[in-house]
Amino acid sequence: MKNYSDYNGFDYRQLFWGNHQRDYEDFADKNAIKNLITPATWFLDLGGGFGRLIPSYQKEMKNIILMDGSIELLREAEQEYQNLSNVHFVCAESTHLPFRDQAIDSTLIFRVLHCLDEENLLQTLQELERVISSTVYLEFANKRNLVRIGRYFFGNRETNIFSRKPEQVNGSFFNFTFPYLKKVIKENTSFEIKKITRLSFFRHRWFKKTIPLPILKALETNFQNHWFWNTTPSIILKLSKKNSSHQQAKDKKFLDLIACPLCHHHLQIDQSTITCSHCHQLFFRENKILNFQSK
Ligand SMILES: C[S@@+](CC[C@H](N)C(=O)[O-])C[C@H]1O[C@@H](n2cnc3c(N)ncnc32)[C@H](O)[C@@H]1O
Ligand SMILES: [Zn+2]
Repeated sequence: MKNYSDYNGFDYRQLFWGNHQRDYEDFADKNAIKNLITPATWFLDLGGGFGRLIPSYQKEMKNIILMDGSIELLREAEQEYQNLSNVHFVCAESTHLPFRDQAIDSTLIFRVLHCLDEENLLQTLQELERVISSTVYLEFANKRNLVRIGRYFFGNRETNIFSRKPEQVNGSFFNFTFPYLKKVIKENTSFEIKKITRLSFFRHRWFKKTIPLPILKALETNFQNHWFWNTTPSIILKLSKKNSSHQQAKDKKFLDLIACPLCHHHLQIDQSTITCSHCHQLFFRENKILNFQSK
């Protein structure tokens, strides 16, 4: 079942975000999220890692589920957020979500799509269709960004950025194009694209070396509000369910939303074990983390 790139064994917080090396990107991500999201009762941060993005949506959301395939990143998140009673932790895969049908109001999927190949992307979209009742905020790494377009015409890179197909980079990551994602979303879900936010305009090291951070932040905010070409390295699609007669699950408790990731049936959840009443699969509970990866 586990055939994607998870982040166990990689110090994602320190090695990727540490030493202020990506303060600009961190700002760009959080600024875009703050301006795009609307309140929800049950909000899922899918592939949320160590919880980096929690501060950008925390105030808007009544209940938060931080889900990731990496138990190590979730343990880090649990340490930081365990005192907040409205933050819940789930270790599971996007291709097999441990939630009941239509249980979650909205979800954020940020810097995660690049871990999914075409087959896993398809399964993930089908799971989102089953589980999410209202809105998906889906970020992707854009294969056709300005730097790549420039390199294609003026450099010696061979990759054909004009093909719609996803492109595999560094062995296990994938960059997508907007037309490709639009097509797979349309063919496999009843979500429609309601808004597009383009971000991370100045990610290139030349900008980061030359322009002071406060100016970059101001420029980024301005460009996020006005740019309308899909040429940025990162793009967020806001997807809404068509004809949704959606009512937010206000009175539901966290455990009411959980179901077996394999057969979607009822789970018996005890102090340290989780057992499916239908397929009898056994999973484990570790402090506040429901762990569907440990079998
Ligand atoms: C680049 S990190 C991004 C983390 C977080 N969204 C952020 O922006 O800080 C990608 C995360 O997605 C998780 N991940 C990748 N594929 C996944 C999948 N199919 N299901 C669940 N988590 C996944 C990894 O374990 C990792 O924590
Ligand atoms: Zn089951």
